[in-house]
Amino acid sequence: MASALDLFGLTGKAALVIGGGQGMGESSARLLAQAGCDVAIVDIDRDRAERVAAVVRELGRKGVAIAANVLEDHEAEQAVGEAEHALGGLDVMVSIVGQALFTPIVDMTPEQWDSDQRRNMRYFFIAARLVAKSMIRRAVPGAMVCIGSTDGIQGAPFHASYGAAKAGLIHLAKSMAVEWATHGIRVNVVVPGTITTPRLPETPAFRAAVQQSLVPMERSGTTDEIGKAVLFLASDMASYTTGHALLVDGGWTSANLFDPRKMAIKKSTENLLDDNTAQKV
Ligand SMILES: NC(=O)c1ccc[n+]([C@@H]2O[C@H](COP(=O)([O-])OP(=O)(O)OC[C@H]3O[C@@H](n4cnc5c(N)ncnc54)[C@H](O)[C@@H]3O)[C@@H](O)[C@H]2O)c1
Repeated sequence: MASALDLFGLTGKAALVIGGGQGMGESSARLLAQAGCDVAIVDIDRDRAERVAAVVRELGRKGVAIAANVLEDHEAEQAVGEAEHALGGLDVMVSIVGQALFTPIVDMTPEQWDSDQRRNMRYFFIAARLVAKSMIRRAVPGAMVCIGSTDGIQGAPFHASYGAAKAGLIHLAKSMAVEWATHGIRVNVVVPGTITTPRLPETPAFRAAVQQSLVPMERSGTTDEIGKAVLFLASDMASYTTGHALLVDGGWTSANLFDPRKMAIKKSTENLLDDNTAQKV
């Protein structure tokens, strides 16, 4: 009988995780390995990449660490080449690297604008087209997943350049999905809300804000919750899904922020709970 793992269709496949050295990238690399993938981890920090590659090897898969700064085009290209060489071709590419500038638009310099486009979108274009060329040449199907942001879905005060880059990433992924669909290459985006990561640990003040009003599920997400969405989109479980932006945001973008109705909704469901409790007693 087929095991649940077979549903992923990833056993013996080769994955590249760009920015796989910690947080969401580490979770993605580990979950892909658990689903049967060999994994190449590219990270600007060699120690981080080595540590996650060791985790992949402990799971019984081939784990390869590659140090590169993917914001340099030639380093991104070289890293893809090294990963392909080490794993004998790629079936999956996951790209995690991204960061946000926090500046009002009126104060933002053109250089800062360019920097956010580069560190959130350009390297994905550089790496993904190289991986796609190879998949097309080898006539193998494949899956790519990149990481967007809810800032690319809604207006993003003080994150305008980042939000524009993340919105652009979704558009780029959709265009790739359409151009490469007949080659069996799927391209999707995971769109996180507020996620607790090693770089952005949850402060008590932030936790309070999340609990009080912003996120309907009243908590931040975990890196594993992003990794699971990455795994789903990379796997055969999503075999008919391409050009999709999957929100993993605890309901954040479904709610109207600071909407007083949220409190009313909460109250009404609390009453419901009270009613249910009363009925049971
Ligand atoms: N944390 C959140 O709440 C949140 C919300 C929405 C979207 N995101 C997105 O999630 C992704 C991950 O964010 P994070 O804060 O967890 O990441 P992070 O800063 O921890 O980076 C992940 C890994 O990428 C590596 N890296 C950074 N720059 C690199 C470069 N130039 N070349 C190669 N490797 C590099 C880092 O060393 C790290 O190991 C980003 O794309 C971010 O925009 C985060």
